[in-house]
Amino acid sequence: MREPLVVAHRGASAALPEHTLAAYELALSEGADGLECDVRLTRDGHLVCIHDRTVDRTSNGSGVVSDLTLGQMREFNYGTDDAPAELLTLDTLIELALDGTDRPVKLFIETKHPVRYGSLVESKVLAALARFGLSTPASADHSRAVIMSFSAAAVWRIRRSAPLLPTVLLGESALYLGGGAATTVGATAIGPSVKSLREHPDSVDKAAAAGRATYCWTVDERHDVDLCRELGVGWVATNHPGRTKNWLAS
Ligand code: G3P
Ligand code: CA
Repeated sequence: MREPLVVAHRGASAALPEHTLAAYELALSEGADGLECDVRLTRDGHLVCIHDRTVDRTSNGSGVVSDLTLGQMREFNYGTDDAPAELLTLDTLIELALDGTDRPVKLFIETKHPVRYGSLVESKVLAALARFGLSTPASADHSRAVIMSFSAAAVWRIRRSAPLLPTVLLGESALYLGGGAATTVGATAIGPSVKSLREHPDSVDKAAAAGRATYCWTVDERHDVDLCRELGVGWVATNHPGRTKNWLAS
């Protein structure tokens, strides 16, 4: 069985501020196979890499992302006082994933819902991928981008508009883990938390039987990495990509 591939969750975010270019560069230098990011739309329609609805936790600024323009968001520091970091846009992260290493690193892009601009975020993500030539891969396996969401409707929108792009339906319910919702929306992978994977270890085999891969988050402990390896999880998202790569190699 193939070892799980390692996805840097918000970059190497245990070591450096999440969703910063430096955190993703470190992840690449540590051997990450994939980069995970959350995306939201600014008031003027730009895709930015940020988890929360507001900038308050992860910057020295304040405000709701969907109320702020790109220019306003760029005024804040997303790093530390000692090592300031700029706002990261999805375009910049795509460029890093494509050009920052010789490895065919995949970008796992998560769209957050519910949000003010609704389905526009998926349209903008697809437009961005099209600009970089990533929206029509030869196959899901060869795709350099994977779109994820806890919203089944969001996954369905991607599936309908870009059927060749792989998708992950994130979630934890028994219905979902049994494959029902993933089947309905045509997701190519299920995305349970590591907690729900522990409770439903058979979900990996069930997904595989239906032709679906498993992406598990957020896998930071050694015993959970070992569990994912034993169960045949395809992708593990972790805040510690370097350490996880080393564990998997040992
Ligand atoms: O990779 C999926 C995981 O990131 C989902 O949870 O809250 O960290 O975006 P969250
Ligand atoms: Ca996420």
